[in-house]
Amino acid sequence: MKANIGLFGFGVVGQGFYHILSQKNGSAPGRIARICVRSRDKQRSLPAQHFTFDPADILDDPDITHVVELTDRPEDAFRIVQQALQRGKMVISANKKMLSDRLGEISELQGQFPGALLYEASACGSIPVFQNLERYYAHDEVHRIQGIFNGSTNYILTQMTEQGLSYAAALAQAQALGFAETEPALDVDAHDPASKLALLTAHALGCPVTPEAIFRFGIRTIQPADIAFAARQGRKIRLLGQATLLPDGRLEAWVLPAFVPVDSPFYALNNEYNGVQIESKYMENQVLSGKGAGSLPTGFAVLGDLAASVRPGHTGYTRMQLARSTRPDTDTLLHLYLHFPDAVSRALLPELVPETQENTVAGLQVRGRVALHHLMARRQALLDAGVFLARWEDRN
Ligand code: HSE
Repeated sequence: MKANIGLFGFGVVGQGFYHILSQKNGSAPGRIARICVRSRDKQRSLPAQHFTFDPADILDDPDITHVVELTDRPEDAFRIVQQALQRGKMVISANKKMLSDRLGEISELQGQFPGALLYEASACGSIPVFQNLERYYAHDEVHRIQGIFNGSTNYILTQMTEQGLSYAAALAQAQALGFAETEPALDVDAHDPASKLALLTAHALGCPVTPEAIFRFGIRTIQPADIAFAARQGRKIRLLGQATLLPDGRLEAWVLPAFVPVDSPFYALNNEYNGVQIESKYMENQVLSGKGAGSLPTGFAVLGDLAASVRPGHTGYTRMQLARSTRPDTDTLLHLYLHFPDAVSRALLPELVPETQENTVAGLQVRGRVALHHLMARRQALLDAGVFLARWEDRN
């Protein structure tokens, strides 16, 4: 079977997907019949007859078998996915925010209608993490998944570390390269990796969790002094997401910068690379890495879904059916590095038990321990005061 595709969105990923498909000619698993876009004013790289502005031209066309949703507005994306599934079409999406916010509704829809939904490109770009979990972990028991889930922030951290670029210059480059979200706060404040971790947690651990339930602290407040501190310790700062199912059934989940040591699988992952480490009962420890953002790597993940969906008997994801109830753990004691610009900001976290501290021209650099729930309560105040924090990785 070849797919007859209606594509929604023609941004970085949409164009990458289009480009790859058009290079495959006869061997492609499908052809794009129509592209639906929102803006009538944008200059497009294809002639006008390829485009429509009316979603019904795709959704109500019975000849369109596959809907590929690559828009960046979560509400629009949900409506497209919902209506496509209701019409029995196969659906592919990369909208991590929409998917993670509405996974329950989407799972129900898939149960009610014959189509199915795949979303490999929604997390870790080119790394086939959902397929891997589906195919090889069906009979294993995963207790932890962690990794670098955002290419833009990894690019910024790499450029600040390796090239001495300022945070603003590195962010501007990440935007110019098409890695960042339209609203880059989603990247630097770690909303985007929290959405991806929520999806991965559901698939890997069978735990439904909303992105809001995942504690996150991004890299907006990072200073060159923090990069220099890491270098002096032989470490690198990486933004890591981690979800752990504890033996008593509670779930520990966060996205936090971390000082990773040289023997960490994430130490050598630079620029837009992502990495994911899966820990399970039988296979124990598996690490995958690859490009996590960018037009062609992410477009290729969409193509992978398309190829999977035209195979006879394909029914979509099954691992999600493991879903169990989730009790979040917020008592965990975190081992952290914190950089307080001044004494006023240090006073915001009196519960922090310091182990080492150093007064520098850039402020107070402290290593110590604090319970996660104290951080959760003070998160916004710490950010407003310009505090940077990162986990001090005790283990890999
Ligand atoms: N803004 C995202 C990132 C794009 O930087 O990882 C890929 O999901």
